Amino acid sequence: MLTIAPLRDKRIILGVCGSIAAYKALDLASKLTQAGALVDVVMTDAARRFVSPLSFQAVSGRPVYTDMWQAEAGGGLPSHIAHVGLAEGADLLLVAPATANTIAKLAQGLADDMLSVTALAARCPLLIAPAMDGGMIEHPATQANFAVLRERGAQVIEPESGRLASGLHGRGRLPETPTLLGHVRRALGLGGELSDHKLVITAGGTREALDPVRFISNRSTGKQGYAIAQAAVDAGADVVFITAADLPPLVGAKQVDVDTAQTMLEAVLAQIAGAAALIMAAAVADYRPRRVAEQKIKKSDEALNLPLERTPDILLAVKAQRAQTGYPAIVVGFAAESENLLENARAKLGAKGLDLLVANDITAADAGFAVDSNRVILLDSGGGLEEIELASKDVIGAAIIERVSRLLD
Ligand code: C5P
Repeated sequence: MLTIAPLRDKRIILGVCGSIAAYKALDLASKLTQAGALVDVVMTDAARRFVSPLSFQAVSGRPVYTDMWQAEAGGGLPSHIAHVGLAEGADLLLVAPATANTIAKLAQGLADDMLSVTALAARCPLLIAPAMDGGMIEHPATQANFAVLRERGAQVIEPESGRLASGLHGRGRLPETPTLLGHVRRALGLGGELSDHKLVITAGGTREALDPVRFISNRSTGKQGYAIAQAAVDAGADVVFITAADLPPLVGAKQVDVDTAQTMLEAVLAQIAGAAALIMAAAVADYRPRRVAEQKIKKSDEALNLPLERTPDILLAVKAQRAQTGYPAIVVGFAAESENLLENARAKLGAKGLDLLVANDITAADAGFAVDSNRVILLDSGGGLEEIELASKDVIGAAIIERVSRLLD
């Protein structure tokens, strides 16, 4: 896994409680560390019954804190000030898994073990990922504790439903690492440079049906749009992600699933009210079958003629709506070209009323559709041109968001 820029050098205190899900916290500590974060693990006594501190020390490469009274081997802070030292300058306190007992302590402000005393000393955002069995999460006492913590600004991650350690099925599972990482990114992004800005981002190739089982589509996977939306969440934006792609849910964004150009058009026009920016990264089909057969089209020995008609141009419809409402303030389009890249891109910028156009040459094997890297040129309405060298789609996504942020200034 590559470094994730918004996690690089972030100081994260990971509180681990005594739940069978504690083993998942090892993977989380490892992935946070690989992403560039400095992870200080604090374990409760009960957590040590499930996983060894040494395991956390091995994956984080840093001392692990377990006891308020005893200094740890391995260069940790002296015991009497460890909680203050850990809390000071931390960017995030994440408790995962959080048990009902520790949640109750945090709600009450108790400070009788290393984790609860650190939580009391900390002034950074608090993110809680509960994991518990047998309906304990639904108990009014636990629910009341969540309410108190939320009231104080803590964020509680919704546990997942499924098989619990007891064999029961229900709500109470700790989400998997990618979901937890998504919550960490969102928590770190809150208050960022795009806070209070609504950004609408589209992704994926639309699918235009021929009949109930077949469709016309394109090679877009939605990865670049997804990376842009993630970068917008990292910058604290209020993100609406309109997607025709098959990708995992993006934590921290409101997702609107669409399939055809028509459903994407309707979603975009509905969502851009009040938006600071629209970023149209979706590969919208230009043509669709004129008629969608009600039944599956039977094969025959004759050639099949499929009359196609134009789909609505979403950016042109946005241009018209924007002329009336003033929103979105900024519109970004994409141009995937296989010839005369700059010439075609410039023409598109003007015709579609764009502030910024992201042009890529889709003939290169290492950029464009399906691969994880991209190489783009940003053209603006003032005639400016900026090339972004071959980079991961995450890096390109962050560069586009940075550029949008500058335009909004
Ligand atoms: O005209 P062309 O399809 O090459 O333009 C690409 C840009 O226009 C992309 O930003 C794409 O999302 C958008 N588009 C659109 N409506 C269409 C086709 C493309 O808004 N029907």
